Amino acid sequence: MSERLRITVIGTGYLGATHAAAMAESGYDVLGVDIDPRKVDALSRGEVPFYEPGLPELLESNVTAGRLRFTTDFAEAAEFGDLHFIGVGTPQHPRTNAADLSQIDAVIGSLAPLLRRPCTVIGKSTVPVGTAERVREQLHALAPAGTDVDLVWNPEFLREGFAVADTLTPDRIVVGLADPAGPGEPPTRDEEVMRRVYAPMIEWGSPFLVMDYATSELVKVSANSFLATKISFINAMAEVCEATGADVTRLAEAIGYDDRIGPKFLRAGIGFGGGCLPKDIRAFMARAGELGVSDALSFLRDVDGINNRRRASTVALARELVGGRFVGKRIAVLGAAFKPDSDDVRDSPALDIAAAIYTAGGDVVVHDPQAMVNAEAAYPNMAYAGSVEEALTGADLVLLLTEWPEYTGLDPAMVVGLPSNPSILDGRNCLDVGRWRAGGWTYRGLGRPNA
Ligand code: UDX
Repeated sequence: MSERLRITVIGTGYLGATHAAAMAESGYDVLGVDIDPRKVDALSRGEVPFYEPGLPELLESNVTAGRLRFTTDFAEAAEFGDLHFIGVGTPQHPRTNAADLSQIDAVIGSLAPLLRRPCTVIGKSTVPVGTAERVREQLHALAPAGTDVDLVWNPEFLREGFAVADTLTPDRIVVGLADPAGPGEPPTRDEEVMRRVYAPMIEWGSPFLVMDYATSELVKVSANSFLATKISFINAMAEVCEATGADVTRLAEAIGYDDRIGPKFLRAGIGFGGGCLPKDIRAFMARAGELGVSDALSFLRDVDGINNRRRASTVALARELVGGRFVGKRIAVLGAAFKPDSDDVRDSPALDIAAAIYTAGGDVVVHDPQAMVNAEAAYPNMAYAGSVEEALTGADLVLLLTEWPEYTGLDPAMVVGLPSNPSILDGRNCLDVGRWRAGGWTYRGLGRPNA
């Protein structure tokens, strides 16, 4: 192992690019690897090919300092790395609910035969339980005989929009080992390697948790399942509030004071989306089925169902607010990203709702501060506005679907003259009702019919 750790990070999406920059920031020599030459070119110039606050600065300073480079060449990576982190995607399989692990298999298939020096491969991607065991066998089968290589599983918990802080100061470091040391036994070599690479984070105060592969894989999917369940719980309450005239935002506030419940992830609205929560709960259910424990996770079907209903019921409410038909109505949609501070539109409830209204005949115009390019690539036929004002102009109904500060900070009285009908449906319950009413708007939130 080199004096100064040499690290590769394979896969340079939200996870990998951030991890590579954070490792370089920690003082290591880092080589980012991707099969997409356009990404590699952009990153090599110090440009981040997606929106993530703080990452461009971190990337640029480490590229300039010479600690961080990028390549498409696996031979170079194999030759370079003491540690190889894998951060490729594990999207939902196109025809099933299961995770598609082909990118992980491709990385091992490319890297393992080229390995010559002692190294550790570290999986960070979110995977179904049992994957690490299988990947380890694959690694040993494909690496040249006698190569000193082992596999560690080290799930990543970063949130888009907070990726830099979550990577530099993680709230925990989870390390899954093939053979963790028992109580009272000295740490294994793999554990020592992981303690060394994460030393700056451990010193900062991140808890370091060592466990077996299966537990580490399950930590990640169970954490995301819990978060998804919390959101769907409050959205289920929103459905009940709609039926009873209660206010889900007051309800959330009141139950959140119980510190066993806590106030976070209780924002009712159009529901969760993104590249993680929806596909992770589906992959978890699929895996549970394979393991013969599908009953244990049957509640996740409801979590997914509640979440999908949010989109349908928001479309239905919007239809009601424009008098029963979308045809001939101009609908301004503020927000396309699945959440603010991201340009990610994967499984975005905002974009899904916009597209459903468009398909139903609405004259939809979408605005987003960062996600326009991705939104337009997904739905090229919808109209996109260059500014919030342009989107609002002439609207019969405004839907606020992603709570960007650009929208929550709007002065309702200043923009009330722009729409044909100043009526807003607040899909994230993020606006000050009193202020918007006082500004001349008709306001409707979700799960608070009388607010
Ligand atoms: C999530 C996990 O938080 C992170 O730990 C994991 O590593 C990856 O998946 P992310 O997908 O970036 O991160 O988004 P997150 O902040 O969790 O939000 C997910 C979705 O839930 C968003 O669409 C958001 O708008 C929605 N949400 C969140 C709600 O609808 N209500 C809430 O109260 C919180």
